[in-house]
Amino acid sequence: MAGMKRRDFLKQLAALATLSQLPGLPVALAQLEMDDALAALLQELGKSADMTVYRADPLNAGSPLEPLRATHETPADIFYVRNHAPLPALDADSWRLEVDGLVERPLSLGLAALRRDFPRHEQEATLQCAGFRRQEMLNEDNAGGALLWCSDAISNGRWAGVRLRDVLEAAGVQAGAVHVAALGLDEIVKGAATFGLGGSITLEKALGDELLLADELNGAPLPAAHGWPLRLVVPGYIGARSVKWLGRLTLQADQSDNHYQQRAYKHFPPDVSAETADWPAADSLGELRLNSVFISPEADAELPAGPLRLAGIAIDSQPVAAVEFSLDGGASWQAAGLSGEGRWSWRFWAAQVDLTPGDYELVLRARDQAGNTQPEKVEEIWNFKGYMTNHWQRRSIRVV
Ligand code: MTE
Repeated sequence: MAGMKRRDFLKQLAALATLSQLPGLPVALAQLEMDDALAALLQELGKSADMTVYRADPLNAGSPLEPLRATHETPADIFYVRNHAPLPALDADSWRLEVDGLVERPLSLGLAALRRDFPRHEQEATLQCAGFRRQEMLNEDNAGGALLWCSDAISNGRWAGVRLRDVLEAAGVQAGAVHVAALGLDEIVKGAATFGLGGSITLEKALGDELLLADELNGAPLPAAHGWPLRLVVPGYIGARSVKWLGRLTLQADQSDNHYQQRAYKHFPPDVSAETADWPAADSLGELRLNSVFISPEADAELPAGPLRLAGIAIDSQPVAAVEFSLDGGASWQAAGLSGEGRWSWRFWAAQVDLTPGDYELVLRARDQAGNTQPEKVEEIWNFKGYMTNHWQRRSIRVV
């Protein structure tokens, strides 16, 4: 019932979006109607009105940055949302997780069985979209319609549920299984085909302690927008592998043949274009890359001379070892302080500086435990899909 209501509501929202583009309609009125509909949608999904909405249908929204940096456990109402299709209307009683493929015993598990038959675990982990910081790599002209996320497609949650490993062991992994493919129950329409978002990880990764089939976020039931009733959480990997509204796990010899494993979320070097891309030959994206961003000060801020706090977030597929900032365009560097301990979570960084009047080019880079740092220039990592933007972030400010 609730799902039907939501679908109707989304249709209404889409109609409003179309209406607002009609020539001749007073812009202010159209805008007001969109804003009302959007506000109602955010409220319906338990989301803060402070989210940055990149697309309303399906909802794609970034976290407000200052509140994001305020607490390690991102509150559900500001947790970023990345959807490829409208939320599916699922029913708790009829929902099942199917486990099949190269297993001894295919399983069909309802929520009650999952909760009854498997030990529960909690795991703090950061989700980061592969499109994080895309607006520093692509723009409206070359993004091909991709969402131009800033540093807001990232959030850190306390997930709870059962271990993926425990469920796979209950099914009995057969020899020959190398990948675990996950499939969501959403309905993405591409041309004549309709399918759920899917993807795969290696069996080796799947057996790690950190992977959960989660039905809770931050001690509360998993919100609908984040995959209720069950989602896969793959810490350390791009968000796309953490399949929401999970319906099926298949053990197989090869990677998932789903569009989102084979035709999206792939890595391409700078000289490849949409026309020359060899999709089957390209590597699928998996592990997160070393990255760090400013939250404050804001870009192009004009600030009074004196003490200034710099702060932001750093992330990697392993705990970030150091964050360094420069006040002079990269000529000299200083170490920032780090906080946050989680093995699979972001680090917060902060530093206190004292600035005299002038123009400053702030630069930021993180280091991993082996001493490696991020690529300096966007040209080194540019790709036409705008994935994994992680060059040194620069920010100009004026101190008066
Ligand atoms: N799972 C399904 N079924 N459908 C989706 O559209 N989006 C993926 C992933 N899982 C998606 C999905 C992407 S691209 C990301 S970045 C994360 O979910 C975002 O998770 P969140 O919306 O809970 O923040």
